[in-house]
Amino acid sequence: MALLHIEGISLSFGGLKAVDGVTLEVNQGEIVSLIGPNGAGKTTIFNILTGIYKIDTGEIRFEEKPIHNQIPQDIVKAGIARTFQNIRLFRNMRVIENVLVGSHIMAHYSFFHAVFRTPRFKKAEIENTVNAIRLLKDVGLLHRMHDYAANLPYGEQRKLEIARALATGAKLILLDEPAAGMNPQESEELLRFILSLRDKGFTILMIEHDMNVVMHISDRIYVLDYGKLIAQGLPQEVANDPKVIEAYLGGVPNAQDH
Ligand SMILES: Nc1ncnc2c1ncn2[C@@H]1O[C@H](COP(=O)(O)OP(=O)(O)OP(=O)(O)O)[C@@H](O)[C@H]1O
Ligand SMILES: [Mg+2]
Repeated sequence: MALLHIEGISLSFGGLKAVDGVTLEVNQGEIVSLIGPNGAGKTTIFNILTGIYKIDTGEIRFEEKPIHNQIPQDIVKAGIARTFQNIRLFRNMRVIENVLVGSHIMAHYSFFHAVFRTPRFKKAEIENTVNAIRLLKDVGLLHRMHDYAANLPYGEQRKLEIARALATGAKLILLDEPAAGMNPQESEELLRFILSLRDKGFTILMIEHDMNVVMHISDRIYVLDYGKLIAQGLPQEVANDPKVIEAYLGGVPNAQDH
């Protein structure tokens, strides 16, 4: 049984069908990539999945429960977290504080406990901090924990976004162009890190233009063009699909564009 079912979803912006009848599934423990030329509708699908946009038609189920009418915060609580194509960190906050924001979304104490700093609040804060430190270590940013997010190089900011997403405790992590702006060594590290997430039981749905990353780590790939799925399958199947090659002609994806 799939962890995430997307069935026949569509969304128009005015006259533009940004997402047009897309059906896809992500199974527990998979790394699935969503690729396609610029403007294909990939990020829009993430915005739909995270409750930012409401679909016109179709259905989305996560762990068999419908989520397409839920608000973003409830979707995070259900177990889906994301990173953004255009990095969205709290730039004037420190690295560790940015990670703690992720865990606060999931806080199990009420406002009352936070305001009066009850023992329950303090215990949760200690647990969150220990967890945040562990996550920073996992993404290789422990030495940066007291730096301001704004002072991190681009590649490290992307890693910090991943740590913040993980801090929510999500099962499904949506990565929107995680390798964008990374040099080859950084994207190689990222590739290994994403594989390690899968080893830990996370499920990944990733949008990525860097074909080296996509081809090396994806279990399966979906290809979107003008809002429609034009191909799906194993990396080798997709890479050799004439429809995919055609879609990319004239608009070869390039990580440097972003
Ligand atoms: N809020 C919006 N209002 C109007 N049009 C939108 C909106 N969001 C996205 N679009 C349009 O929907 C289409 C799909 O955009 P989307 O950002 O999903 O593409 P993408 O596949 O992520 O592309 P890229 O690879 O460049 O990031 C584009 O034509 C875009 O201009
Ligand atoms: Mg996009």
